[in-house]
Amino acid sequence: MNSFSRQSENNKNRREFLRNGMVAAGAATLGTGLLASGAPVLAEQEKESSGKLSRGDAAILRFLAAAEILETDLWVQYNELGGVQDNEVPGGSGSPLYTSALQVLDGDMNQYIHDNTEDEFTHETFINAYLASKGADTVDLEPFRTLPGSTASGASGKPRLTNLMKLTVDSSWWTRYRSRTQNPDFGDTFPQAVPSLAVGQHPAIPRSDADLSPSNHLQAIANTAGFHFATIEQGGTSLYPSLAQRVSSSEVLQIVLSIGGTEAMHFQTWHDKAGNAPPLTDPSDSTLVFPDLNAPPFGGEDFQTNLIMPEPTIFLSKSLPRCSIIRPTNTTGAATGALNFLTAMGLFIGQSPAFFAFLRDLAEEADAARREGER
Ligand SMILES: [Fe+2]
Ligand SMILES: [Fe+2]
Repeated sequence: MNSFSRQSENNKNRREFLRNGMVAAGAATLGTGLLASGAPVLAEQEKESSGKLSRGDAAILRFLAAAEILETDLWVQYNELGGVQDNEVPGGSGSPLYTSALQVLDGDMNQYIHDNTEDEFTHETFINAYLASKGADTVDLEPFRTLPGSTASGASGKPRLTNLMKLTVDSSWWTRYRSRTQNPDFGDTFPQAVPSLAVGQHPAIPRSDADLSPSNHLQAIANTAGFHFATIEQGGTSLYPSLAQRVSSSEVLQIVLSIGGTEAMHFQTWHDKAGNAPPLTDPSDSTLVFPDLNAPPFGGEDFQTNLIMPEPTIFLSKSLPRCSIIRPTNTTGAATGALNFLTAMGLFIGQSPAFFAFLRDLAEEADAARREGER
């Protein structure tokens, strides 16, 4: 079996599973929300409507809508406990101690968290509304909103799509954006800024009021959040230009480029703030250590905290001059790669097999998209 037919077979098996899984769950309601116009939704997924959009453009926008829904969900959890509380981003009532710990990284952290959260809401809402305006199916993940969130004072207590309490945070973007000689699109890999965050499972929000002390434990949670913010937003910063290369319509390209740029603005801000995370060891978990990134064995060009602009590096060909760029931006498998990245960080711990299968289908359909005229 060649790889194409194997992939088709895999997709078919997954859809069979989804169909059967949904039936087994007795889930009339579970089935209705996912693709807004699809009647027995998942059973009809192979025929989901692209409306006036090309099939590929609709698939790319649907994957991005799902990614934005998930981003919104995680940012809402941060905002409920650590953001500015107002009616622009309603839900929680704030955790003064967690908010203060975040403000050790920057006095404006609560404002930035609020604004990043509001931005994600608008990304999600706009992309789905645009799909609908073109007669294409939209994405709704509400049936998967089943995870319990934090019980700390200030959290709304509503069910969540994402889990911020068992994160494994990849901070290799720190050294990736400082390298002058390497690029992940050439197969290069990069050291972690906070090696102990890249192993084990760590809360980025207080799981309950018990996490509010001792103060250095709460600071370790806030530091974890500080690095996670940048880890999430650098992912979006790469995802949009990666998928843009396979968009067909100039209007969809305008959407992808215009939203993608804001992900880079978020990342740049969070990159700067993560460097202010105070060096410490979590008194509740001695394996979690935030190093002084400006002192040996760290420090120097690869770690110094004020080097937050992308260093120029190799791009497209080593025979071309080095260039300051977003990296990676390889388009092959970009959506599936993004999904795997979010899964590996523990963001979906506790989610159902149907959730993973549904998102994998959206990612594979986005990755199958080709620019019109290119096959
Ligand atoms: Fe976004
Ligand atoms: Fe984002």
